[in-house]
Amino acid sequence: MRVEIKRRRHILDLDDFSREEMEFIFERADSMKEVLSREIKKVPTLRGKRIATLFYEPSTRTRVSFEIAAKTLSADVINIQASSSSVEKGETLIDTLKTLKSLGIDLVVLRHPSPGAPYLASRFFEGSIINAGDGTHAHPTQALLDIYTVREKLKSFDGIKLLIVGDIAHSRVARSNIIGFHKMGARITLCSPPTLMPRYIKKAYPWVDVDFDLDRAIKDADVIMALRIQKERQGDNLIPSLREYIRLYQINRERLKRAKDGVLILHPGPVNEGIELSMDVVNGSLIREQVENGVAIRMALLYTILGGK
Ligand code: CP
Repeated sequence: MRVEIKRRRHILDLDDFSREEMEFIFERADSMKEVLSREIKKVPTLRGKRIATLFYEPSTRTRVSFEIAAKTLSADVINIQASSSSVEKGETLIDTLKTLKSLGIDLVVLRHPSPGAPYLASRFFEGSIINAGDGTHAHPTQALLDIYTVREKLKSFDGIKLLIVGDIAHSRVARSNIIGFHKMGARITLCSPPTLMPRYIKKAYPWVDVDFDLDRAIKDADVIMALRIQKERQGDNLIPSLREYIRLYQINRERLKRAKDGVLILHPGPVNEGIELSMDVVNGSLIREQVENGVAIRMALLYTILGGK
């Protein structure tokens, strides 16, 4: 039986997504992949709609995949990098959004260094907001593409063990995936150096297991997600040295022997090669599939918000 999904105006995080709604998005992404496999990758679904990407932080994957997704659906796309906009002259986020609405923008894809900025934006922008990453808080479209990539390989999430390893403290990707994979039925273990694990983690997400010992945590994992060490967000020296981090927390072939056979390796990118993952593990990972699936997931989301049911 197909569950009725309410039409949503914004995508700010996965907190208010049900498993059924995520499944609905994934089925829609399956159809979008079919469009992307055609010789002419273009459908008229969003003709006449205007989408702006408004990025206050650097990005390659998220920004480009949203642009490709929107163009494949025939929307008009305007890319705004805050560093080369009137933000540099002191314009506020709210004034920028009001300006974009006056210019006929229907949907803004927003990346911002401040946690909660997309929530603020959704209160003042009369169109739709998609959170493309807000500081250390959330990255819902990344989590959806991660879950979708695993769904293609495992089919069922019930009882699988997901291990998230690395800089949990600064990771919006971790936070959205902790919520999303849990809703899909996965068990989740978090592993990091103690200095990169938020103290509130068990209070905020009581269903996760926390282990600081990677050789123990990796045992029987079905899926491993390694996170980037976010040097740009680390004010203090939270790890003694990269060499020490690699010794204790790198995912490499030797460590993978303790995981399940055929364990799936994900990384949201960009990767610090040879730090979070050894090079041979990068080569055997699903990183390319994650990037490819990002376009289909973002097409599904844009269509769901702007195109009808
Ligand atoms: N995963 C991710 O958000 O990558 P970008 O910063 O390149 O968009």
